[in-house]
Amino acid sequence: MSAVVSLKERLLGRLEDRSAVISVIGLGYVGLPLAMEFCEAGFNVVGFDVSERVVSLLSGGASHIQDVPAEQVARHVAAGRFRPSTDEKVLSTSDAISIAVPTPLAKTRDPDMSYVIAAAEAVARQVHPGMLIVLESTTYPGTTRDVLQPRLEEKGLTIGTDVFLVFSPERVDPGNPTWHTKNTPKVLGGITAACTAVASALYGTCIDTIVPVSSPESAELVKLLENTFRSVNIGLVNEMGIVCDRLGVDVWEVIEAAATKPFGFMKFTPGPGIGGHCIPLDPHYLAWKMRTLNYKTRFIDLASEINSAMPDLVVEKVARALNDDSKSVRGSRVLVIGVAYKKNIDDMRESPALDVIRLLEERGADVAYHDPHVPTYRDEGRERKSVSLTDAELSRADAVVIVTDHSAIDYQRLSDRASLVVDTRNALAKTKTSRARVVSLTPAVPRG
Ligand SMILES: NC(=O)c1ccc[n+]([C@@H]2O[C@H](COP(=O)([O-])OP(=O)(O)OC[C@H]3O[C@@H](n4cnc5c(N)ncnc54)[C@H](O)[C@@H]3O)[C@@H](O)[C@H]2O)c1
Repeated sequence: MSAVVSLKERLLGRLEDRSAVISVIGLGYVGLPLAMEFCEAGFNVVGFDVSERVVSLLSGGASHIQDVPAEQVARHVAAGRFRPSTDEKVLSTSDAISIAVPTPLAKTRDPDMSYVIAAAEAVARQVHPGMLIVLESTTYPGTTRDVLQPRLEEKGLTIGTDVFLVFSPERVDPGNPTWHTKNTPKVLGGITAACTAVASALYGTCIDTIVPVSSPESAELVKLLENTFRSVNIGLVNEMGIVCDRLGVDVWEVIEAAATKPFGFMKFTPGPGIGGHCIPLDPHYLAWKMRTLNYKTRFIDLASEINSAMPDLVVEKVARALNDDSKSVRGSRVLVIGVAYKKNIDDMRESPALDVIRLLEERGADVAYHDPHVPTYRDEGRERKSVSLTDAELSRADAVVIVTDHSAIDYQRLSDRASLVVDTRNALAKTKTSRARVVSLTPAVPRG
């Protein structure tokens, strides 16, 4: 038997006995929960982030991510198990690196790969033989092979024997009480079988189910299929909302009844538009890639067109409802309920509420907002503060617009105090008859 232990076997051994040091690049919604899982699995974890603010916050034992308790961060920092840093040199002593940096869109809606490229270059400067590198950022098929692989090979390293390169999509669903990093199956696809095997060993230490696929391109496409599926289905129910509006049918009743079918139907609900760092952006990564191959992804484009028109539709509903009360949008006080992009979270990225507020203000409305999860936010250079949901604030508003249906809101009180509510989420479905006139995404249906 050969006495020479391969780099793969050495790394597998270090993962097995937990002597391996794991790094996470980008300590945001995806990277911080992942870093915590590696800590819980017994590894020493280095967190590299370019943000001084994030690193000093985490080093002080605080957490800026709602799903990660400060207590957990503080415990691992105090034990010396979690070391956040802005110095990329900390990567050089790592056995494995997971990259979870942003993948936004440029103004032209083309992929902005600058963060992934910067992270790949940092890794290439610090790489050593025997290292595993996993890209987790959502991106177009081919990124791992085209952006990361050449930068590692330029260092004279052979993928699959000297270093191991894998794509593994993150599936974090912020605010989801059931599915977390640990119990959500993890798909991963390496450049070679050895790459996939090493990454499976790492993630198998802290994630319950590993789903290996045959290549990074498959793994990259898995994520894009999942999010395109959501975008297209949301587009479909949003269009169904428009259809029901024209037909005078209650879309919510139609959806609830359709959802009683035990097979072949999956429930999606209409709303004021889509938000977050994933659904509005990720499908465009695939659309862009396919454009370079002379193919137009029609479902993606159509869903995007319908979903991005929803804020206009909401504002049109508000304008018509105010008109029914002989009021104009200009000069009316409009109270927006919920500005996070979905319920019970504090994430404002790409939130349709931003468009709703901007469009109302363009028409001259005096807009205030209330969101128990977002006390303040800044948009286009202007700082805004959540108002308290007092009886006076509710009765003062000419229209209350429910954009995000946070569970912490007392909807019965809201509809008892307000005079007009435009409910884009069917949040008032369970309230009793109230003072407010309720305008739904589809015709208001009398309740009581
Ligand atoms: N947020 C989600 O729900 C979610 C879910 C699944 C997948 N994703 C994907 O995961 C990736 C990360 O998203 P996120 O929501 O965690 O982003 P985020 O903005 O919350 O966090 C990213 C972090 O990376 C840091 N960063 C940026 N450039 C860096 C660099 N060159 N080196 C080191 N750190 C750097 C930023 O300072 C920030 O703290 C994206 O590709 C996103 O599409 C996000």
